[in-house]
Parts: sequence; structure tokens; C-alpha cells
Amino acid sequence: MSLPPSFLDELRARLPLAALVGRHVRLTRRGKELTGLCPFHNEKSPSFTVNEAKGFFHCFGCGAHGDAIGFVMRRENLPFMEAVEKLAAEAGLAMPRRDPGAAAAEERRTGLTGVMDQVAADYERRLRLPEGKPALDYLHRRGLSEETIRRFRLGWSGEGRGALLSSLGRAGVTVEQLVAGGLMKPANSGEGFSDLFFSRVMFPIRDRRGRVIGFGGRILGDGQPKYVNSPETELFHKRRSLYGLDLAAEPARKAGRIIVVEGYMDVIALHQAGFPQAVAPLGTALTEEQMAELWRYAPEPLLCFDGDAAGARAAARAAELALPLIEPGRSLRFVTLPAREDPDTLIRRAGPAAFTALLERARGLAETLFGLIAEGGGGAATPEQRAALRQRLDQAAGTIKDPALRDEYRYQFRTWWEERFRPARRFGPGERFQGGGPRGQGRASGAGARYGSSAFHRPGYGGPGNGLRGRIAVTTPTPARAAAERERCLVAILLNHPALIAQVEETLAGLDFADPALDSLRRALLDIAHSSTGSGTGLDAAHLARHLLAMGLRETAEAVLSPVPTPLPACAMPSAMPADAWAGWWHFSALGRRERLNEEIAEAEAALAREFSAANEQRLVALRRVRAALDEDEAGAQPPL
Ligand code: UTP
Ligand code: MN
Repeated sequence: MSLPPSFLDELRARLPLAALVGRHVRLTRRGKELTGLCPFHNEKSPSFTVNEAKGFFHCFGCGAHGDAIGFVMRRENLPFMEAVEKLAAEAGLAMPRRDPGAAAAEERRTGLTGVMDQVAADYERRLRLPEGKPALDYLHRRGLSEETIRRFRLGWSGEGRGALLSSLGRAGVTVEQLVAGGLMKPANSGEGFSDLFFSRVMFPIRDRRGRVIGFGGRILGDGQPKYVNSPETELFHKRRSLYGLDLAAEPARKAGRIIVVEGYMDVIALHQAGFPQAVAPLGTALTEEQMAELWRYAPEPLLCFDGDAAGARAAARAAELALPLIEPGRSLRFVTLPAREDPDTLIRRAGPAAFTALLERARGLAETLFGLIAEGGGGAATPEQRAALRQRLDQAAGTIKDPALRDEYRYQFRTWWEERFRPARRFGPGERFQGGGPRGQGRASGAGARYGSSAFHRPGYGGPGNGLRGRIAVTTPTPARAAAERERCLVAILLNHPALIAQVEETLAGLDFADPALDSLRRALLDIAHSSTGSGTGLDAAHLARHLLAMGLRETAEAVLSPVPTPLPACAMPSAMPADAWAGWWHFSALGRRERLNEEIAEAEAALAREFSAANEQRLVALRRVRAALDEDEAGAQPPL
């Protein structure tokens, strides 16, 4: 059976390649492309690229090449048709069938789409007539620009019964079609049909491809019900649709973030204020289908909820629904609005920057759940209450299907539990190790002063006490020890200067540390940097420390930074100037990989030629400096400065 090209196009549109590949490969943006380690051959430096615009992947190492379907064929070793079936099931697309019934239904649907478009156009037209003036004034009063009104195709329903049929009947639209589209219904009198929408501002609801599938209608001013929505029809499936997605899809994919709000007006206000990645469910709680759709655009959709009790309940419902579905690289983040505000009112009152600030403070799913369970509800004053809460946390974690993630949640909840209810021993998830003292007040000289401004410093931390320092702090210098010390410095620099992680991410991902503890820190740094970039915040040391604590790696990190038994070089200190820390990192990274140095310089030159940025230039300069130093003195293992 051959498949119609329109079906394959739709399939590809529904499953963006980057999201599909991103489930299996850690992708990093490089210019217009995404790169990562090729899943089809063994490699240590990334030669696998994804071109989102063109929708294909290509590996410069092994030559693997193809689109989304090709990716699944290769990865799962499936023939073409089976790969298509698998993807279609995932995308919620029925495989095209050749039987006449399906063809007829398809034609009816296309016919209906045309009718819905005419209806939307008629509502738009009415908004511009004298009868639509109060509605247009209302939209202007709510701060919507002409451009916004047109982009969202807002309209006016007309006041009386039968308005639609009188306008569209002339164009050959029938009552049956309007009933099938959810715009007319049998009249209450039992005779004839009446309009579903009248005296309302009309919000067309469009599918991902911009086709009108239904409507929401808002009353002017106060009154109940505030919104009336189209019923389910052949075209309109509330559980699967997201308002605004046609406009949000592309910006969301580009930014790797998608913002979910509650109302139509919130979506519209956000788009107008410069957040074109906003979508909303259709007046109901978020469904599984909608979550699956959201994950096609971003690994961690941002869900916005009102800061009041109802908002907390809605957040809890979304979190519970998501738990069984999450995987590494597929989670949620939660944004809490001030009580009784929605994004629309917030932006009108406080401006877009206020909303950005909230997005940056978004909390992860685990943290949100812990907050909702441990802080909310019945209290934790008695042992019984605490035991009950603990059980709820364990139960929540237990619903996660992915086994590795389930373990992580259990562990993390337990860690936080200890911190929250055994405060003598640890800190809570929302707290920081300490305020993070002022940086750069000059180069401190004594070890105590140097470490005073580290976010990892814990007063009274008594030194080694775990295996790591023992392993890497051997007293006789051997090549292995020198290598371990280099690895330690690489990690230490990033712990004290987390803003650098984004700049060295690609190289860091390609390293493989001999020391397992250092290597787990290396991987954790990548994960944390990766999961934090979505919110647009630069990673700071306190934030990093909190993540490491949650991952059970705090002590490992502290051991790496401890001046006992070996002090860190100046460039790894918290007090080092960022540029020095940065140069030091490249120095250490290149030292251990002499054989790759020339290759890296060539890469850095190419990167600079592609994009002349300060970061690219600095990188090349640092690498050349290292090569010069190595040429001069083969054993030159001293850091710069
Ligand atoms: P809100 O009442 O928060 O809507 O309901 P809103 O978009 O902020 O409306 P404005 O700002 O008062 O104009 C959130 C969403 O819930 C659905 C709609 O989808 C609405 O956008 N809703 C609300 C209904 O379906 N029916 C209702 O009566 C109310
Ligand atoms: Mn509102």
C-alpha cells in the first residue's frame, strides 16, 4: 500500500525530529543545527547533527542519514511501514485506509473544515459591523492590538438566532453542516435549530495546522456562563487540542520551551507580550493527550497556575497525571502566579519582565510534588502525620513507570524528607547552602578566605571523610594521579563557576573521567546545565549546589573542592576572575588530551569562522596558548596564571 504524501507530511509535522531524536541523544545547539553523539555508531565527540528546518539527521562519522521515519527504522530496526505505523500511533494519527467509508469521512471532514473557516470569517466580519462595536471596544479595552485581534481571528457572534445561517446559507452552507460543526443545535422548543453562540466575543480554536475546529465564546463583561465552548465534533476533540498551538508550535520548538496557561485570554496576552510559546487546554484540566503533545515541543513544558488553593489543586492534578509518563528528558516545570492573578492580569499590571521573572523561578516536578505533599495538607506535627506524608511521597514516586527515574524520585524525596524533618542534619529543598557571599573582592590568600565564598562551603565540614579524596589524593605523583588531579580541577572550576558549563558543555560531554565519583559529577553537571537552560537563567553556584544536594552528590562535590590534602589552583577558586577560570578549564581539558589538541584547534578555528563570537575566539586563543606551552615544555602541567 502506498501512503499519500499528505499523510506523511502530517506525520512529520506532528513529530518534530529534534524531539524524537532528543529522547535518545543528548542534543546541543550549534548554530542552526543540533549536534550530539551518534546513536548509530560508537563515538566520543559529536558528529551527529539534526537539521530541524529540513527535518533530517546526518552523521558525519558513519554517514547515517534520514528523516523521522528513517530514524525510527534505523534505531528500532523496523521496515518502513512498521516505522510509520509506530509513529502514527504515537502521533494519534489513524493510518490511511482504502475502504470507501473512511474516504467519505475524510471528505466530510475536509468539507467541514471549509465550513468552520467560513464561520470564523463571518464572525470576524461582524466584529467590524456596527453590531460588533461593543465587542471590538471590549477587546481594545482589554489591551488587545489590532494585529492581535486579526492574528487570533477574534470575532462577534451576532445577537440573534439564525445569524450564521442567514449569512452563510447564501454560500451554500447547510443547517446539517452547522450542526455537525457544533454551531447549531436542535431548538429548545423542539422545532428547528438555533445558534449555539449569540451575543458573544468569538475565539476560534484551531488545530496545529491552523484549521478552525471549534470556538469559545465569551460574554461581554460579567455574566454566566462566562465562556461557552463548542461541543465535541468530528473535528473538535477537547482532550487532544491546545488553544494557540498553531501559532506556538514553531516558536516553542525553536526555544525548546512551551508555556501552558489556563485561559484563552492568557494565551493571547502572552503572545502579544512577546511569549509566543503559550498555549492553553480548553477549559478543562490538562489531559494525558495534551501532555504527550506538549512533550513534542519541549522536554519540560512550563505549567502556570494561580498561587491560590485552587491553583495548588490543579498543579497537584497535573503532577499526578504526569508522573507515570515521565522519563529522563520528559518532565514538567511549574510556575506559580501570585494569588488571584492570571498571566493576562499580571502582564497588564506589572509588565512582561514580571512574567519572565516567574518563569525563571519555575520549579521542577519533583520539587513541586514534594512541596505540595509535604508542605500542604494535614500538617506534620505528629509522628503519625509525618508517617502518612512519607507514605504519600513514596506512593507518588511509585507511580513513575521509568525504573531509573522512580529510584531517583524515591531517593530524592527521602533526602528532602530528612532535610525537612531532621533539620539538624541537612537543609530543605528550597533552601541554599548559604547566601553565597560576594564574589571577586580581590584574590583572597588563605585557604579559609578562599573557600569562604564558595556555595559549597559548609562551616564545620571536617575534611575528606569519604572515598573520593582518598582515591585521588595519593601522595606520590604518578601519571594516573596527575590525570586524576586534572579531572578534579576540571570539575572544581565548573562547580565554582557554573556559568561556564554552558560554554564547555560539548567538550565536557565528550570526556570520560577515570574516577567514577568525578565522572558522576561530570554527568550531573551536564544534566543540571541542560535542565536549567530551558528556563533561561544562568546557572549560579547556589542553584547548582541545591541540585547536587538533591542528587546525593553534595559530599562528593565538597570533597573535590576541599583544600585538604591538595589545594586547588588559583583558576579553580571561587574568587578567580571568570576569564581565568575559563582559560584554566580549557588548559586542563586540553592537557589530558594531547593527541586531540590539534583536532580541537581545527574545530575551534572552524567554529570561529562560522560564527565570530567572543566565546569562540577566546576558546581558540586558549587552545593555542596551551599548544604553545606544550610545545615548549612537554611536561608543562602547570596551569596558567
Ligand atoms: P478563566 O475564567 O480564567 O478565563 O477561565 P480567562 O481566559 O482568564 O478569561 P477572562 O480573562 O475573564 O476573559 C480559564 C478558561 O477556562 C475556560 C475557558 O477556556 C477559559 O479561557 N472556561 C472558563 C470555560 O470554558 N467556561 C467558563 O465559564 C469559564
Ligand atoms: Mn483572565
